[in-house]
Amino acid sequence: MLSDKDTLALLIARVLFTLSFQNKDAHLFNTIKDNFVVFDFLSVSQNGFLNTLDKIPNHDYVIVNPPYLNTNEDTRFETAKCTDLYAYFLENIIKTSKGFISITPQSFTNAEKFYSLRSLLLKKFADLTIYCFDNVPDSIFKGIKFGSTNSNHANSVRAAIMIAGSHVKGHKITSLLRWQTSERLKMLDHLDVFLSDVTLTARYFPKVSGFFENYYNSLDLHKTLSRIMSSKPTQYALYVPSSPRYFISALKKPVKRSSIKTLYFKNEQDLNKAYIIINSSHAYWWWRVKDGGMTLSQETLDTIPIIDFVPDKNLIFALEQSEQKNKVYKLNAGSYQENIKHPIELIDKVTSILCNYRILSLCHKNSEMEFTNYTRY
Ligand SMILES: C[S@@+](CC[C@H](N)C(=O)[O-])C[C@H]1O[C@@H](n2cnc3c(N)ncnc32)[C@H](O)[C@@H]1O
Repeated sequence: MLSDKDTLALLIARVLFTLSFQNKDAHLFNTIKDNFVVFDFLSVSQNGFLNTLDKIPNHDYVIVNPPYLNTNEDTRFETAKCTDLYAYFLENIIKTSKGFISITPQSFTNAEKFYSLRSLLLKKFADLTIYCFDNVPDSIFKGIKFGSTNSNHANSVRAAIMIAGSHVKGHKITSLLRWQTSERLKMLDHLDVFLSDVTLTARYFPKVSGFFENYYNSLDLHKTLSRIMSSKPTQYALYVPSSPRYFISALKKPVKRSSIKTLYFKNEQDLNKAYIIINSSHAYWWWRVKDGGMTLSQETLDTIPIIDFVPDKNLIFALEQSEQKNKVYKLNAGSYQENIKHPIELIDKVTSILCNYRILSLCHKNSEMEFTNYTRY
C-alpha cells in the first residue's frame, strides 16, 4: 500500500514501481492501481474532533519519509509541542502500526521540543534502533531539495533512520556519523558496529557510538559543568565560540565574532578546571552526543560531565600561549569570524589528564570510519 496526499507523487511512484517490476507482469500498472491511495495522513488524529485514526489505509508496518516542516502547534496531536509535521506523522504511525522504518531529521534525538515524541516512542516500543547521520563531509540524501528558494539546493538534512517494532532486543543508537564521500558504502556496511545500548530517556537520546558506550556509562551525568559555573558575572570568565564543527575552544580572551558565549566561574581554580574540560576532546565528544547541530547550546555546555582531576599549570600556560598563536578565520555571511584552533597534540595532552580514552581524539576527524580498525573499549 502506498499513500501520499499528492496525486502526482503517487502516480510517479506507481510508474517507477511498474518500470522496476513489470517484467513478470505485463499488466502490473493496472493490477497495482488500488494499492496507491490518495490520503491526507494528517487529516486524522487520535485526539481530533471528528477524525479518527481508523480512516488511515489498513496496514501492519510502515516505511516512511514524511515531510519535514516546522509548523504551528497542532493541538489535535499529543506531540503538538514538537511543531513539526514529521512528528505528527510519526505519532499517527506509532499509534496505528506494529512497527515502522522512518527517515527524518535527527533533531528528535535531542531538541527539547521533541520531548513528547521521545516519550511516545519509548512508551510504545521496547525495541528501537536509531542510526544518526551528520551532513558533512557527505550526507545521507543524495538528491536535491525540490521547491527550495535557497541558493543551496543540496538536501543537507542531518537525518536519522529509525527502526521500531522489529523485535531486535532493546534500544540502540549510533553516534552522529561522519564519513567521506568515498567511504559511503563502507559506512553503510559497517553501520551496526556504531550502535550502542545506552539508555534512551524522554529528556534526550544520547548519540553514543558503540566505541564509547563504556566511556559514557562510566560518567556521572549528574556531576556537570553547571555545578562550577556562577549564574552572576564574575571576574573569572571564559569565552566559548558557539558554532563548532570540528573543535570547541574556551578562551580567556574574547575573539572577534558574532556568536560567542560567556561563562562565569566563582574562582580561579574552577575557571582553570573548565578551561581544561571545554578545550578537551571530552567536551567536543559530549557536544556530538548531546547536540550535534550547528551550534553549541548553553544546555550542552551546562551538562558537560565533569571528571575529577588536578589542573596542570603547564598545560594551562600552554593553552594561554596557544590562544595568542593559533587564530583562525572563517568567512560567514560576508564577515570574518575569529576563533582559536589549538593544535591537536595540545588537545590530546589536555584530554589525557581527564581520561585515558585516546580514541576521543578521533572525534575531531571528518570521518568515523577509522574507528572500524579499533576494538571497542
Ligand atoms: C519527503 S517527501 C517523500 C516522498 C517519497 N515518499 C520519497 O520517499 O521519496 C514527503 C511526501 O509527503 C507528502 N505529504 C506531505 N503532507 C502530507 C500529508 N498530510 N498526507 C500525506 N502525504 C503528505 C508529500 O506530498 C511528499 O510526497
